[in-house]
Amino acid sequence: MTKPFLVFASHNANKVKEIRALIPDYKVLSLSDLNFKEEIPETGTTLEANAQIKAQRIFKEFGKAVFADDTGLLVDALKGAPGVFSARYAGADANAEANMQKLLDSLQGETNRKAHFKTSICFINEEGKSHLFTGRVDGEILTDKTGEKGFGYDPIFKAAGEKLSFAEMSPQAKNKISHRGRALNALIQFLKESEKK
Ligand code: IMP
Repeated sequence: MTKPFLVFASHNANKVKEIRALIPDYKVLSLSDLNFKEEIPETGTTLEANAQIKAQRIFKEFGKAVFADDTGLLVDALKGAPGVFSARYAGADANAEANMQKLLDSLQGETNRKAHFKTSICFINEEGKSHLFTGRVDGEILTDKTGEKGFGYDPIFKAAGEKLSFAEMSPQAKNKISHRGRALNALIQFLKESEKK
């Protein structure tokens, strides 16, 4: 049986890899597979809006079922920062190292380390109808970078009830409890239900 395909509106190879492992029943086409090189500006003020902007741009271009995600790390002691600005926390072209360092510096001496990752997914079906899904994982910001796996803020985030940072966990263990895993599960359930109709 040929797998149905879905476009994932992202250039991020790490995320594409995670998403493919999470939805093996679909052939996930990335923007690189489609040779779409444009960077879609994330001009929204919420994660939901940014996910919608990215999915809509790609739906307009290809007219195929597509989903896009936007993720933020929200830190309680920083009133929800970096949130929607997580990718650009230390500046427009900041890399993960610079972003993590800025966050560690901002929390120096802070005892309230509570934080959560949140992912919003916008799915647009072949008819152009949008649906939003959310996933969240609660945890804390560590005082030092720990672990080599994963990407982004993984070395400084530990989920509640876990002993290891996200960057020390296997991809499978992280995906099971992660914000993106949870949002994606909600999308998968929705796709399964839609197939039955
Ligand atoms: P994006 O909106 O998903 O591209 O991500 C926004 C920011 O959050 C980027 O700096 C990412 O590196 C970071 N980020 C997204 N997902 C994760 C994750 O699963 N772990 C750690 N950092 C992440």
